[in-house]
Amino acid sequence: MIRRIRACSKVRGEISPPGDKSISHRGVILNSIARGRAKVRGASSGADLAATISCLRSLGVKIQAQNGVLDIWGGERLQEADDVLQAQNSATTARMLCGLLASQPFVSIITGDRSLRQRPMGRVMRPLRLMGAELWGRKNDLLPVVIRGARLRGIEYTLPEPSAQVKSAIILASLAASGETKIKETIPCRDHTEKMLELMEADIKREGDVVIIKPKGGGLRPVSIDVPGDISAASFWLVLGTIHPDAQIRIVNCGVNPTRMGIVNVLKDMGAKVEIENRRLWGNEPVADLYVESSHLHGIEVDPQAVPGVIDEVPLILLAGSLAQGRTVIRGASELRLKEVDRIRKTVMELSRFEIEARELPDGAMIYGGAKLQGAECQSHGDHRLAMLLGVAGMVAQGETAVHGAEAASISYPKFWDDASSVCQYA
Ligand code: S3P
Repeated sequence: MIRRIRACSKVRGEISPPGDKSISHRGVILNSIARGRAKVRGASSGADLAATISCLRSLGVKIQAQNGVLDIWGGERLQEADDVLQAQNSATTARMLCGLLASQPFVSIITGDRSLRQRPMGRVMRPLRLMGAELWGRKNDLLPVVIRGARLRGIEYTLPEPSAQVKSAIILASLAASGETKIKETIPCRDHTEKMLELMEADIKREGDVVIIKPKGGGLRPVSIDVPGDISAASFWLVLGTIHPDAQIRIVNCGVNPTRMGIVNVLKDMGAKVEIENRRLWGNEPVADLYVESSHLHGIEVDPQAVPGVIDEVPLILLAGSLAQGRTVIRGASELRLKEVDRIRKTVMELSRFEIEARELPDGAMIYGGAKLQGAECQSHGDHRLAMLLGVAGMVAQGETAVHGAEAASISYPKFWDDASSVCQYA
């Protein structure tokens, strides 16, 4: 699908972002192995979560979807699926399922779409094998992965790369292991799994940079949750709001978990006017409304330690940098080369079409500010975040932009183009 966009003369409105994708995955997976029924309200309606739901149904979990509410009948035992589990484009699904299924007493095979079949799975297989798991991947590291459920034991493990998916896979396995598991993170990454497990009365705690889990008899307490809006989805509007010369946007009911607030911190460091209002808690996840308006940005060097906290938002920071004063540099982001596409290469390549001066670095990118964006023919390469980034670029570029492969947005944000039409006004 090609989406044609013209520069908005004015940006105004209120956005209610889609349910947080990470929290939705955890809400569905963890409640599937809890000892009863729970409801997940306002979950992501994107294709990634749909893949998780479909895999869990194949594993015998009853999940009903009605009026935006998922009704989940949990149980400690899953059933062997009678076919391959299809994680589609979702690495979170594939990796978390590896951890979940490593202890189940049957055989599972997980695969994904063409993009996901090229992404590394060794990062979850290595620690799971240390726990006693039996799993095999194509070319060792790739999907499809075959898992034969085994008895697991707790381990002490330092995450070699900051990854919430890997951390969560180990935590899921540790719930069914004998003995204690300790996971050390050198750079903290999103902690939604830990937060939800606390609500579910699991024996989980944090000591400094170590997460400690002890298996507990009696299973997990089911928890019904309201899923906060996804800050990674909201970030498209945060950036549009700051870079457009006549913008005011309010983003309501947005998750503001500190491990996800990197984008707000980076934009503020660049001079963005972002207000956080009406803070409250949903379950034990913090939620707030965000208000953003046109700002004069200046370029920055993003601290590599801060990169894991903005890993999904790096392409947006580069776009913001192109309209800032001075140069913006991001380093320590080589993980981005292992996402749905090589997001460093493809972002630099596609933003260059708008006459933005950008340069690829081995582990990041450098972008020169003060660009006058020109509308362009550009391509999502099937990557949802790239499709939406190019949409935002089109909303501030002169002339017409055509985003090819615009439908990819529906992986995480099916309403993205409708929300774009609602905030983008023409004189
Ligand atoms: C996610 C973790 C991140 C992120 C992805 C969602 C999660 O991936 O990029 O969009 O829900 O745990 P990594 O764990 O690979 O960094």
